[in-house]
Amino acid sequence: MSKPKVVVTRRWPSEVEAKLKELYDVTLNETDVPMTADALKGALQNADALLPTVTDPITADILRVPNKRARIIGNFGVGYNNIDIAAAKEQGLVVTNTPGVLTDCTADIAMLLLLMSARRASEGDHLVRSGQWAGWGPTHLLGQKVTGKTLGLIGFGRIAQAVAKKAHHGFGMKILFYTPRNPPAQEVIDDVQASRCATIEELLSKSDFVSLHCPGSAENRHLINEERLKLMRPAGHLINTARGDVVDNRALCKALKERWITGAGLDVYEGEPNVYPGFLELDNVALLPHLGSATVETRVAMGNRVLENIAAFFAGQEPRDRVV
Ligand code: DGY
Repeated sequence: MSKPKVVVTRRWPSEVEAKLKELYDVTLNETDVPMTADALKGALQNADALLPTVTDPITADILRVPNKRARIIGNFGVGYNNIDIAAAKEQGLVVTNTPGVLTDCTADIAMLLLLMSARRASEGDHLVRSGQWAGWGPTHLLGQKVTGKTLGLIGFGRIAQAVAKKAHHGFGMKILFYTPRNPPAQEVIDDVQASRCATIEELLSKSDFVSLHCPGSAENRHLINEERLKLMRPAGHLINTARGDVVDNRALCKALKERWITGAGLDVYEGEPNVYPGFLELDNVALLPHLGSATVETRVAMGNRVLENIAAFFAGQEPRDRVV
């Protein structure tokens, strides 16, 4: 029997690409340059599976290309807001993602940004590199203490729960959370002594640090807007490792510039890789280039998870991480 035909849209860790070569008739993207809409359409017409990632917009127009051969889209990423899920469903395509395997590393980046923002690490790094550091001083580059402070989590899924564990058990932080969904099991809440807030507004006003963990979606677009930023504490910090469009950039920039809040730490951006130009002029925002899952271990695990999902599909079984 011939091997299923698979198209991968970006470079993957070499050990996962090697497995793909062994198991499938695979087309890899040696250049790592994102594929055009036409190339993605062609892949859906010529391959049995398309394996895109968070940087590939898989729009309704692409999904509705006629004469499709593909039956499954195995997304390399837990977030799947890059795929028009309604159109995929309408076209009878199976979509899978990669939950679980990137939880800890993404939570680590949220903690890193929290610490960077609180302790003014980007400013300090810049000072040293630019040769402007004049030496230690009792009042020099004072930040804020993290231990014992209150951390508010918007969204309380896997990654938020991992952040809560690290923050509570590692830094003695008090945990608040807001979720519009059913809360997790009571033992998860008890483990970090978390309290649920009834509204986002309540959480914003009670937290020293606010970390975003809600999915990118039309519903969550600009969830953090000017009105809500004004509810944060003047000493507050906003951390975003979720999706860029959850925050209104213009409003956050104003909040940081006018010091309604003290700092922010961002790993994701609306329209990335473009970064809202206002952020580049501010010294009270720590900026990372979407590094949440960027460890060797996690990226290999993500690739393996896609392999597991498509293997199940081609074996006629239900893929473990089926989204639709
Ligand atoms: C995801 O998997 O959704 C991440 O944003 C990639 O790090």
